Amino acid sequence: MSNTFDTIASIIKNRRTTKPPEMNGQKIPDEQITALLELADWAPTHANTEPWNFIVYAQPKLFGQQHAELYKANTPANEYMQMTYEKLLNMPNKASHVILCTMQRKPLTRIPVLEEIAATACAMQNILLGATALGLASYWGSGGMIHSPAMKQYLGLGEDDVVLGALYLGYSDTKPTGKRNIPLSEKVTWVK
Ligand SMILES: Cc1cc2nc3c(=O)[nH]c(=O)nc-3n(C[C@H](O)[C@H](O)[C@H](O)COP(=O)(O)O)c2cc1C
Repeated sequence: MSNTFDTIASIIKNRRTTKPPEMNGQKIPDEQITALLELADWAPTHANTEPWNFIVYAQPKLFGQQHAELYKANTPANEYMQMTYEKLLNMPNKASHVILCTMQRKPLTRIPVLEEIAATACAMQNILLGATALGLASYWGSGGMIHSPAMKQYLGLGEDDVVLGALYLGYSDTKPTGKRNIPLSEKVTWVK
């Protein structure tokens, strides 16, 4: 295999989730975040709709505050849990940046929503792989209010738009290990 293949294979296999509490608070230069967003922008996109959009929180605690307040404001009193509020509030505390990733449909697009979501997920993976190559820790979070109608409304998104997740980026002193539960052979059918 070529050196280029070995390089990208190593980056792909080394991209492992690091939960934000395992990050150490060290800041990533904004220029590196910009470079990662440029990688995102080269994701494949059916009919060149480029449906991905990013909100970059350079002060990630602000995202935690907004997320937790959204939870408080939109959860019935009998379901509300202070523990959840605090988890959402504190989740980004040791991250450097949070990138909230959305798919926004172009008016009159003929591309199925599924494909626009897939394209945006590719863009997000580009960020994660670029982050790995830069020695950064990363986490794709979709918990809390991420998929709620309240989040969409808060962001001013349309009915067909989708919030895919929040990417937490930072540095970590620990290196996570990966595992796969299902053998690849069970997921592949060759037709020859
Ligand atoms: C679409 C998507 C949503 C995810 N949402 C969460 C989440 O809300 N909470 C969480 O702990 N991990 C979440 N993850 C991260 C996965 O837990 C993680 O990718 C998985 O454990 C595999 O580990 P790896 O990333 O190290 O391969 C999400 C990953 C993807 C792709």
